[in-house]
Amino acid sequence: TGGAGFIGSALIRFLINETSHNVLNVDKLTYAGNLDSLKCIEKNPRYQFRQVDICNDVALTDAFNAFEPNVVMHLAAESHVDRSIDGPAAFIETNIVGTYNLLEVTRRYWAQLPEKSKASFRFHHISTDEVYGDLDNTLDLFTEDTPYDPSSPYSASKASSDHLVRAWHRTFGLPVLITNCSNNYGPYHFPEKLIPLIILNALEGKPLPVYGTGAQIRDWLYVEDHAQGIDLVINKGRIGENYNIGGNNEWANIDIVKTIAKLIEQEFVKNSELSIRFPSAKAAIEQNTESLITYVNDRPGYDRRYAIDETKTNNELGYKPKDSFDTAIAKTVQWYLNNEAWWKSVMDGSYQNWIASQYE
Ligand code: NAD
Ligand code: TYD
Repeated sequence: TGGAGFIGSALIRFLINETSHNVLNVDKLTYAGNLDSLKCIEKNPRYQFRQVDICNDVALTDAFNAFEPNVVMHLAAESHVDRSIDGPAAFIETNIVGTYNLLEVTRRYWAQLPEKSKASFRFHHISTDEVYGDLDNTLDLFTEDTPYDPSSPYSASKASSDHLVRAWHRTFGLPVLITNCSNNYGPYHFPEKLIPLIILNALEGKPLPVYGTGAQIRDWLYVEDHAQGIDLVINKGRIGENYNIGGNNEWANIDIVKTIAKLIEQEFVKNSELSIRFPSAKAAIEQNTESLITYVNDRPGYDRRYAIDETKTNNELGYKPKDSFDTAIAKTVQWYLNNEAWWKSVMDGSYQNWIASQYE
């Protein structure tokens, strides 16, 4: 579910390109869902798409019966903290009620499977490290045993869905796995989140908005490493367990913003054609791109630091990110420079309205 979103589309590209699985992508196509992110695999005979809301049990049941999955990977969610502060209702509906509905449809389908298929079936719930609340600037890390303490309507709705998934395992025996990952970044990221927003604002010579002082810390995980991690958990994870997946890569927001500004400047030096395509960025670079940084109001209930201890995932499953942050963030910036048509098409009227109300 949620295969037209940022992480879901990376996972489907991975499953189609790197494995022999058949994939049914079940997605409602909200503002965050974009089938253009799957163009490179959409004609593959092992891929199918159905536009379904996970709150609709009839349509979901129909999809289960038609496709007969042996694994469910649940990524459909409302996922943006700022939007959850602006309007929590959709988060309660999709993340809590939708997950409940998906669990019930899955349970009915799983219960009637032959014993062998029942035993090998898996329900994998993709969740966030934000369920653990936040950390101060110590050396503390979130482990799988850190008590849940969510701060925002988004993280509270995800915590709630994690509890439901665990309850369906304890009560009904559904073979579940849960992963809690840190902030993802990479290609096809919707440009309301920090990294793509900063890249695209810099290209357009617009202010680079930093909440508060920019001292808040996030652990950044390359989305393609995450996709590979999810596959490992499905293949090797122990039923009923949760696994943290992180990047082992903590950055203060302000340093991420400055890093992106520098990378864009380097790309413009390497390629003179960029100055013609993005004249506003060229003008900003002449002034020093960092001068675009603008400090704006803190988020209410703002989490200071997220950082993941992934010892369990590394030791038990042999998980190891492939790319270093330096190479993956450079690849990400280059991807946005080379894929203007993708990001131009998602920055439609509703996107412009959101940006206007958020940064007014
Ligand atoms: P996203 O917002 O980019 O994509 C979500 C997808 O879910 C979209 O394609 C959307 O159309 C679909 N969707 C939303 N509501 C739906 C519904 N009712 N029925 C069916 N489909 C629906 O999100 P993402 O960044 O790809 O995140 C995927 C999952 O990973 C989410 O569960 C999120 O909580 C979790 N997560 C994300 C991050 C991150 O950094 N992006 C970090 C930790 C955890
Ligand atoms: P975001 O990408 O929205 O992810 P999350 O809220 O799930 O961590 O934000 C990452 C960090 O960047 C977070 O601390 C908020 C901050 N931020 C800004 O400083 N400016 C912005 O314009 C945005 C969108 C986020």
